Amino acid sequence: MKKIVILISGRGSNMEAVVRACATEGWPAQVVAVIANRPEATGLAFAAAHGIATAVVDHRQFDQREAFDAALAEAIDRFAPDLVVLAGFMRVLTAGFVGHYAGRMLNIHPSLLPSFAGLKTHQQALDAGVRLHGASVHFVTAQLDHGPIVIQAALPVLASDDVTTLAARVLAAEHIIYPRAVRWFVEGRLALDGLTVVLTPPEPQWLFADYTAGEGV
Ligand code: GAR
Repeated sequence: MKKIVILISGRGSNMEAVVRACATEGWPAQVVAVIANRPEATGLAFAAAHGIATAVVDHRQFDQREAFDAALAEAIDRFAPDLVVLAGFMRVLTAGFVGHYAGRMLNIHPSLLPSFAGLKTHQQALDAGVRLHGASVHFVTAQLDHGPIVIQAALPVLASDDVTTLAARVLAAEHIIYPRAVRWFVEGRLALDGLTVVLTPPEPQWLFADYTAGEGV
């Protein structure tokens, strides 16, 4: 049984998607803890209601990024996880922290990386006039919102889109690809070939939203 610790900062809808898929699809894994960097993170209530241990390491209590990351690592390592899942965890992490979890920490980012790292990705996509947008699940490296890509979801940007509508469709796609990527990891099916993530046995490491009828993902 692989142990998963999920880090959140707020709503935690991706965390919910992973918790639900883990339970309903019978993964060889268990979400053993959900840890937030904000006590008010609403996702904590969902985790607690599902019998998952919760913890808060409030970044505002720390002057230095290194001290926060050290406290966070201590909180995580108490659960001895095989995998750390960043699910809307909105903190820049130090190289030391990232190195400690090298090869066993995943992130989801709401853009087709390497386009639009950082914040306000949907606004960035609209401003750039791209016709395809989406989300990426990747292994975490010291470079913010970069790292070997496990799976991407792509969907069209519609003429009628604004940040709200685009974000909603991307989020629906996130809820499909993140559980899929985490399942592949806990099944021991992911390997790295340079920067390329190899999935064995292979299956599509992409998702194209079916948007022909103007419906959601
Ligand atoms: C998600 O859209 C996730 O991709 C994004 O924050 C949102 C969290 O929603 N993450 C990032 O922007 C990380 N750079 P959630 O709390 O409902 O999962």
